[in-house]
Amino acid sequence: MKKTILSGSTVTGDLTLGNYIGAINNWKRMQDEYDCLYFLADLHALTVHQDPAVLRERTYSFFAQYIALGLDPQKNIIFAQSQIHEHAELAWILTCLTPMGYLNRMTQFKEKAEKNVKNINAGLFSYPVLMAADILLYQADLVPVGEDQKQHLELCRDLVGYFENRYGKGVFKMPEPSIGKVGARIMSLQDPTKKMSKSDDNEKNYVSIIDDPKKIEKKIKSAATDSGTEIKYDPENKPGVANLLVIFSILSGKSLEQLENDYAGKMYGHLKVDLAELVVQTLTPVRERYLDLMKNKDHLHQLLQQGADRAQERARETLRKTYEAVGLISRS
Ligand code: TYM
Repeated sequence: MKKTILSGSTVTGDLTLGNYIGAINNWKRMQDEYDCLYFLADLHALTVHQDPAVLRERTYSFFAQYIALGLDPQKNIIFAQSQIHEHAELAWILTCLTPMGYLNRMTQFKEKAEKNVKNINAGLFSYPVLMAADILLYQADLVPVGEDQKQHLELCRDLVGYFENRYGKGVFKMPEPSIGKVGARIMSLQDPTKKMSKSDDNEKNYVSIIDDPKKIEKKIKSAATDSGTEIKYDPENKPGVANLLVIFSILSGKSLEQLENDYAGKMYGHLKVDLAELVVQTLTPVRERYLDLMKNKDHLHQLLQQGADRAQERARETLRKTYEAVGLISRS
C-alpha cells in the first residue's frame, strides 16, 4: 500500500518562491511515489476579510498555479477545501477536544493577531484545529510542509492522542510532518530575519511564482545583503546572502558548498545577477502555463469537481467513523 500524503496552501495573495521551495517542490517529487491529496485551503482564507469575487477568482488561480508548478490533477487528488463539507464538521468535533490554552500558545496566531488587530476573530484562533481536520479526514501518513507549520502539526498529533484517550483507537491515523532539510524557511528578500510571506504588504519582500521576468529581476537584485563581501552560507551573521544561496541551491541542484566555491572571490552583485537569471528561467514556463490555464475556467472548474468527488469518498468514511465513535446517531 502506498503511503498517503496530504498538504495544502491557504488561498491568499499569490504563491511565492517560499511556498514553492518549502512545500510544492516536495509535493511534486512525491506525486510519482505516493497516494497524494493536495488542496486549496479556501476556508482558511476566511480568517481574514475576503472580497467574495476575489476569493473565488483566486481559488481558480491557485489551482492553475498548482498545475503550472507541475502537480498533475490526474495523478493526485486536487480539490478545494470548501467543496468537502466534512472538513468543517470534523473541525467542530476536534474543537471540542482542544484546550484554549493550547491555541493561545500558537506562534502563528500571535503573529497573525498582531497583524490583524482590527479583526482577531475566533476563526483565526481555531485555525489550527481546522488544519488538523484537513489532515485527519484523509488518513494522511505524511504532511509535507515548511518549518512554519510544524507547531500546527504537533497540535494535530496531540489531537489524535486526546481523541483516542476519550473514544478509543482506530478512527484516525497518526500523521508525520515531512519538512525539507534545506529550504524549509525561505526568508523575506528585504528583511531576511523574517519569513517570506505571500500576504506581506510589501511586494518587494517576496517573488511570486507568476511575477513577470522584469519584476523578478528587480526584486532579486534589490534583495538586502549583509555587511562584508564574502559569499558564504552563514545564516546567523549573513542571513541575506544565506537566503539567496539556499534559493540558488534548491533551484540549481548545486550544494551550498559548491556554490560557495563557485562564488569565492566574487561580489554579491554577481550572485544576484546569476540568481535572478536562474529564477526567471525556472518561473517563465510556469507563468506561461499558468496564463494559458487561466484562459479556460470551465476546464479548471471541471477538474476541481472531479478532485472533489474523489476526495469526498474518503472524507465521508472518516467522518462516519468519527460520528460513530463519538456517539452521534448516523442517518440511515
Ligand atoms: P501557507 O499557504 O502559508 O503555505 C503553504 C506551504 O508553504 C510553506 N511555506 C514556506 N516554506 C518555506 N519558506 C517560506 N517562506 C514559506 N512560506 C510558506 C508552508 O509551510 C506550507 O507548507 N495552514 C497552511 C495551509 C494548510 C495546510 C493544511 C497545510 C491548511 N490545512 C493541512 C498542510 C496540511 C498554510 O497557511 O500554508
